Amino acid sequence: MSRIVMGIESSCDETGVGLVRLHDDGTVELLADEVASSVEQHARFGGVVPEVASRAHLEAMVPTARRAFDTAGLELSDVDAIAVTAGPGLAGALLVGVSAAKAYAAALDVPLYGVNHLAGHIAVDTLQHGPLPAPCLALLVSGGHTQLLRVDDIAGKITEIGSTVDDAAGEAYDKVARLLDLPYPGGPPIDKAAKNGDPRAIAFPRGMTGPRDAPFDFSFSGLKTAVARWVEAAERRGDPIPVDNVAASFQEAVADVLTAKAVRAATESGIGTLVISGGVAANSRLSSLAAERCEAAGIELRVPRPRLCTDNGAMIAALGAHVVAAGCTPSSLDFSANPALPVSTVSI
Ligand code: KG4
Ligand code: ZN
Repeated sequence: MSRIVMGIESSCDETGVGLVRLHDDGTVELLADEVASSVEQHARFGGVVPEVASRAHLEAMVPTARRAFDTAGLELSDVDAIAVTAGPGLAGALLVGVSAAKAYAAALDVPLYGVNHLAGHIAVDTLQHGPLPAPCLALLVSGGHTQLLRVDDIAGKITEIGSTVDDAAGEAYDKVARLLDLPYPGGPPIDKAAKNGDPRAIAFPRGMTGPRDAPFDFSFSGLKTAVARWVEAAERRGDPIPVDNVAASFQEAVADVLTAKAVRAATESGIGTLVISGGVAANSRLSSLAAERCEAAGIELRVPRPRLCTDNGAMIAALGAHVVAAGCTPSSLDFSANPALPVSTVSI
């Protein structure tokens, strides 16, 4: 007897509702993945404005859920369990999703699971590539997070191996895009500009790669400053800014550090599979360099398609399905959203 799991995501600027079917053999099938984004409302501020995001979630939540049920050809009464992002994320934004999920769970009388957004970014890969081997290594790269994680059990045991000490990789993309007068969010336009540039044109620094640096931690703020200084110097000389070359050289520095550290972590811990997820996993150079280096090191690489890498409800439904399959205890209806939920807490 298969079960339908509904997933609700509202941690940042995407209102997501996903529906999946958990089959008896533990495989999880994607049925619907509807997203409403408020990104355009934040663009002129160059970053997400929390109050604007919360209001947008409130307006989009029920229509997005309706679209998901229509797409899947299901009724609310078909739902067997609900999972919702409990954290980490923006407090007011999380609250909208958590409140909606509690209302649906109470009205439908089904179990509710408050789950971890970061674990959702990893779990989503099972919708495309099937069950995750255990252990596997995950490189999570988004606008808010840059982490290397050891995943022994997607439903229960995730351990942080390293993380950024300052900016997240996506944040660096967004800040560098701003320096280059490219639109927000900065990842896609930099990715595009870089295709016409020379990645060796400018030797930007590789943060935290010295012999005394923590081998699996990251730093991107020095890189961002180096790009700013380079652009300022060119402007002072009255030179035109070679946007394509700056974008390509910056992108190469990011992809180089991320892939080198991830492959080293996998090799040193004897882990044979690397999953890269989060918004920055959609980056074309990151995935091509990761493919090259993983192949050379004999590591299997899994990168979900771009639509699944950025925030969505399907990732929360997928994680919820794994949590249900593992027989975890549901969350009590009075749990609170936790903006700083640690990645080691997969469900609360
Ligand atoms: O996972 P996500 O949708 O939201 C967070 O949880 O943060 O990630 C958003 C981030 C943004 O910083 C955006 O610039 C970046 O992912 N991003 C990319 C690309 N597409 C989105 N970065 C590099 N290359 C891309 N193609
Ligand atoms: Zn995310």
